Amino acid sequence: MYVNQIYLSNFRNYKKGLVKFSKETNVIYGANAKGKTNILEAICIMSTARSHRGAKEEELINIESVSSKIGVEFYSQGRENRGVIEFNRNKKRRIKINNVPIEKTSRLMGYLNSVIFCPEDLKLIKGSPKERRRMIDLGICQLRQKYFTALSEYYKILEQRNRLLKDNPQSEMLWVWSEKLCISGADIIWFRHSYMNKLAIHAKSIVKEICNENLQIEYDCGFEVNDFNDKEGIKNSFLEELKKCKEREIRFGMSLLGPHRDDFRIILNGTDAKQYASQGQQRTIALALKMAEVKLIEEDKGEMPVLLLDDVLSELDEKRREYVLKNIKNIQVIITCTDKDLFGQIPHVNLINVDEIKQEG
Ligand SMILES: Nc1ncnc2c1ncn2[C@@H]1O[C@H](COP(=O)(O)OP(=O)(O)OP(=O)(O)O)[C@@H](O)[C@H]1O
Ligand SMILES: [Mg+2]
Repeated sequence: MYVNQIYLSNFRNYKKGLVKFSKETNVIYGANAKGKTNILEAICIMSTARSHRGAKEEELINIESVSSKIGVEFYSQGRENRGVIEFNRNKKRRIKINNVPIEKTSRLMGYLNSVIFCPEDLKLIKGSPKERRRMIDLGICQLRQKYFTALSEYYKILEQRNRLLKDNPQSEMLWVWSEKLCISGADIIWFRHSYMNKLAIHAKSIVKEICNENLQIEYDCGFEVNDFNDKEGIKNSFLEELKKCKEREIRFGMSLLGPHRDDFRIILNGTDAKQYASQGQQRTIALALKMAEVKLIEEDKGEMPVLLLDDVLSELDEKRREYVLKNIKNIQVIITCTDKDLFGQIPHVNLINVDEIKQEG
């Protein structure tokens, strides 16, 4: 799949903007704070309905405007598609694909798949579990609409249960909400385990290829599970563990166990990468995770996603950059950078000057 063009209206720093892309490598270049990342962000929003930077909707609207619009023309699933998302300060956002309104956000997932690699990802290994969960969630949501729905459901239940733990922990209802949490949580755990297993295999072989080191990634849901294929079993184990931490949960007034606390272990050459990996090793693992995501999407959908590289190539050393450049042959890539000379050696590169995207008025 690939993006043909994107137009923006009152999105971030663009009053009006239009960018046309080639199917191969595109490089958006220009000085800092000109709006390069904003373009990639708009593409991410079209694929996952949210900002990869975790921005709130109001931040996406130009400060001088009340609404903003992103329009993306892209090719996927054997046809040309046109997606439009409108944000409004006072109303709910509106999404349309091929002129048909999308009422449930989950329905947007899978139209346009993208993988973004940005400087923040270089901190993924030693950063907080929340960042790693975000990465997995965005990855799975793009492949499974059901996961998006299950995740929203889980967080709604979690909120209710937390409120009860805080306001009325002795209520009979706590048991009901615990049961709901475990049923919904088991669903999430099942999806995440299956996704992480596949991601781990690809990431392992990428790390081996780049630097001949041994990477293991293990999903950790916070309690023992005998068989991850058995949802009922996961639910029962979750419920058992939850009973054990009841007193603590009441003391803290919140749910202490479940997918909202999940993480994955990253083990490089037998030791915990979160503690021991060097800067370079962390970068290799982050890169491998992203490139593994690309491979997973290709495997699952039979189509390459759009790869968005936000100013990261300059942060990688020669060997890692070479790996990336070697692996961006049959895929549309949109790269941002301040120094376009870095990309002189790539054939057929479409150079886009960020100053020419912006059309005032
Ligand atoms: N809602 C908004 N309204 C107006 N301007 C905004 C809004 N949100 C962000 N901006 C502006 O967008 C610019 C940042 O854009 P972006 O992050 O895309 O820059 P960049 O070209 O990627 O820069 P760098 O090279 O430093 O990463 C800043 O000038 C910022 O003030
Ligand atoms: Mg940027």
